[in-house]
Amino acid sequence: MARINDNYLKLKAGYLFPEIGRRVKAFAQANPAAKIIRLGIGDVTQPLPPALLKAFHQAVDDLAGKESFMGYGPEQGYEFLIDTLIEKSYRPLGVDLKTSEVFISDGSKCDCANILDIFALDNTVAICDPVYPVYNDTNVMIGRTGEADEQGYYQGMVYLPCTEENGFTPAIPTEKMDIVYLCYPNNPTGAVASREDLKKWVDYALANDTIILFDAAYEAFITEPGIPHSIYEIEGAKRCAIEFRSFSKTAGFTGVRCALTVVPEEVMARTADGEVYSLNKLWNRRQSTKFNGVSYPVQKAAAAVYSDEGWPQVKQIIDYYMENARLIREGLQKAGMTVYGGVNAPYIWLKTPTGLSSWQFFDQLLTECHVVGTPGSGFGPSGEGFFRLSAFGDRVQVIEAIGRIQSKLA
Ligand code: MLT
Repeated sequence: MARINDNYLKLKAGYLFPEIGRRVKAFAQANPAAKIIRLGIGDVTQPLPPALLKAFHQAVDDLAGKESFMGYGPEQGYEFLIDTLIEKSYRPLGVDLKTSEVFISDGSKCDCANILDIFALDNTVAICDPVYPVYNDTNVMIGRTGEADEQGYYQGMVYLPCTEENGFTPAIPTEKMDIVYLCYPNNPTGAVASREDLKKWVDYALANDTIILFDAAYEAFITEPGIPHSIYEIEGAKRCAIEFRSFSKTAGFTGVRCALTVVPEEVMARTADGEVYSLNKLWNRRQSTKFNGVSYPVQKAAAAVYSDEGWPQVKQIIDYYMENARLIREGLQKAGMTVYGGVNAPYIWLKTPTGLSSWQFFDQLLTECHVVGTPGSGFGPSGEGFFRLSAFGDRVQVIEAIGRIQSKLA
């Protein structure tokens, strides 16, 4: 009989969002009249804008023509999309990238997980707490950790607490780490990193030969000037950082699927023999073997995000979600709650009312207001006593949800 990967058995409960889904389903079945409003998982609600749809449709039509038909595309992504990203999204930040440094994929979640393929198991890894659960769970799955303790910390991982006291900004580790995950704007806390914050991380990484895995999936939601959108805005970052970006939230692609990972040619790690080796080469090898690229129509639609017609339409939807964020933030403050985030990120991180754990507040919100959010403790032990609301809902529902919270919980 074949043996399973026992590391999976170390994982605590189910993955957070399916777990929430199960609880909400049970509540909905028991209360069929309840009009449930979902502000839990960060899933977009607004349709794709016209310029993207036009490009999508045209590309599908290309597949109908003998001359314009496309089969396998490059595993790394089509140059038309990569070069558009370099010109329209990175160059305005003062960041120069080569075509060979950008890899198109079907999602940042997958890439954040798959990147572990190219690193040895004995690397030391640090993640924030609370954190996007994928970083933690994929390290457990691949076998880098021991068992979890009663708090939920896995043996062998280093956790960097992000608390109210430190402004949800993790302290730079005192020990030398091989790999550090950072996510800015942050999921789940909504915190951002200033240029000075990121410079400290890059300096630490360069001094300690650390690789930073930088998740910038929410960069398009930054509203305040001066906050870096890419880690490569910091000098030296190309020698120590891999960056993940996504079309999911930026352009409503959660169902369409498209993302990018930047692996600069300068970023290096070492072989077992101590030789310096290019991570770009390894990632390219990994992708060419295990991935066949994102479909042509999807990449055409993604490129249209940065067209003269597309960007204003995409930006309008981003602004719509950020107006939701403002309504949630201010509405909760009026209800007497302490809230963070929601200014440069589509997530609002609120403190649960005194005495309530994250899951108790989840139950209260669901049963009394019929509103679904995400318990902070689901993102890690330091998330206990906090709760996340997503700003990706429909405006009418967001207003309704805040009204219910104000009338029932204030
Ligand atoms: C979230 O709600 O944290 C995200 O939607 C999850 C994801 O992007 O995979």
